[in-house]
Amino acid sequence: MAEKLFIFDTTLRDGEQSPGASMTKDEKIRIAKQLERLKVDVIEAGFAASSNGDFEAIRAIAAIVRDSTVCSLARANDKDIQRAADALAGSDNKRIHTFIATSPLHMEKKLRMTPDQVFEQARSSVRFARKFTDNVEFSPEDGSRSDIDFLCRVLEAVIAEGATTINIADTVGYAVPELYGQLVKTLRERVPNSDKAVWSVHCHNDLGMAVANSLAGVQIGGARQVECTINGLGERAGNTSLEEIVMAVKTRKDYFGLEMGIDTTQIVPASKMVSQVTGFVVQPNKAVVGANAFAHASGIHQDGVLKARDTYEIMRAEDVGWATNKIVLGKLSGRNAFKQRLQELGVALESEADVNAAFVRFKDLADKKAEIYDEDILSIVSDEAAAAHEHEYFRFVSLSQRSETGERPHAKVVFSVEGKEVTGDCDGNGPVDATLNAIESKVSSGAELILYSVNAITNGTQAQGEVTVRLSRSGRIVNGVGTDPDIVAASAKAYIAALNRLQSKTEKLNPQL
Ligand code: KIV
Ligand code: ZN
Repeated sequence: MAEKLFIFDTTLRDGEQSPGASMTKDEKIRIAKQLERLKVDVIEAGFAASSNGDFEAIRAIAAIVRDSTVCSLARANDKDIQRAADALAGSDNKRIHTFIATSPLHMEKKLRMTPDQVFEQARSSVRFARKFTDNVEFSPEDGSRSDIDFLCRVLEAVIAEGATTINIADTVGYAVPELYGQLVKTLRERVPNSDKAVWSVHCHNDLGMAVANSLAGVQIGGARQVECTINGLGERAGNTSLEEIVMAVKTRKDYFGLEMGIDTTQIVPASKMVSQVTGFVVQPNKAVVGANAFAHASGIHQDGVLKARDTYEIMRAEDVGWATNKIVLGKLSGRNAFKQRLQELGVALESEADVNAAFVRFKDLADKKAEIYDEDILSIVSDEAAAAHEHEYFRFVSLSQRSETGERPHAKVVFSVEGKEVTGDCDGNGPVDATLNAIESKVSSGAELILYSVNAITNGTQAQGEVTVRLSRSGRIVNGVGTDPDIVAASAKAYIAALNRLQSKTEKLNPQL
């Protein structure tokens, strides 16, 4: 029997540390359910001590998720660990993940602690965590830049205290594959009780090597858990991308010889959901989940694929959950057909009222767009879930906009502010600029627009545009996403969604370490 490789997803914790990617509790729950459908072994749901919002999100996920282990991060101190344990109390399949920095640089400059103090704290924290669960993970932060003798001493001690997973963090993405693989191997060889723990890799992508480093940790080092995020989401250049690890290990089973429990057909739906919720658009040429990942443009390739698929395809699009842009529904489709399609797409709306609301949006869209694709339906559902759970302080009502060659574009936007309709009327350099100016003329948010991007949800000029807007105000960064066949209207919706997030008094979830 092949050995198992455990997939530990940290989209909701390390992924969320990416500025602008912070998620509400409901968004986290939605993603956690999708991760469970994907059958990841462990879901790191957050960092309980970082905020009340994160604590509540972990608590809710721990109460709902049954098939994956639910984990909370905790610094190596009793207060953080107690908070993690409280958040996870409702789960009978939980893990506490505690960490402390072990590199000379971090110990001296950041922690201002001696190695002996760090050693003691690591040890006593694992001991304390074991009071709540026998599933405890320990990470030496900045492990790849730590002194190997010191690492061996710490890791032996935490395993002796009951740590069941040891995770070697390449916190700043400094590692290179061969050396990182060797590091894991040496640690496993030198730590006398290393066989009592599962060894894990956790890599950041600063030099673009997170996936390569993780695979080297597995193949050279013998690690049997990989920590990763959907779409490689994460601060700076991101974390190891789950879809790349899973498909590399699956496609090259001849080389890795490992089994995983992942349902790969849930990869693309997970990628789309994370991108939709966070507003972090996936680049078209991204492996596995990019829009072009399975597109063959050159004549030679197309000819080859038509004759025998495996001439140029090493994976099948449908195996990772790409629907083949099927026209599924249209203007005349009824509620039952819509509901059935939702079921086929694996979307479980909470109540009949949610289905009705999504169906109304679907009919609206079908009036504007003759052909409705799976991607359109997923975007409707996503919008619906966001609208149902988010307090909409501002709400988009309508837009009229005029632009003519040689004339300065003008936009009139009607929207409501706490239920009261207002109309903003402004010029701008282009139609989008005029539209955002019109909204700002009534809101005066003081926010700075730091990112604006448009993405087509499906192919062709009939496609809905998905606009992402990122705003920054007083150090707080938020994203807003809006979809509509009219990209100027999508821009207005995205801007309003971002303003709602800025307005929200909910404690910021983004747990910066
Ligand atoms: O990158 C890192 O060091 C981490 C640890 C908390 C595992 O995310
Ligand atoms: Zn990390």
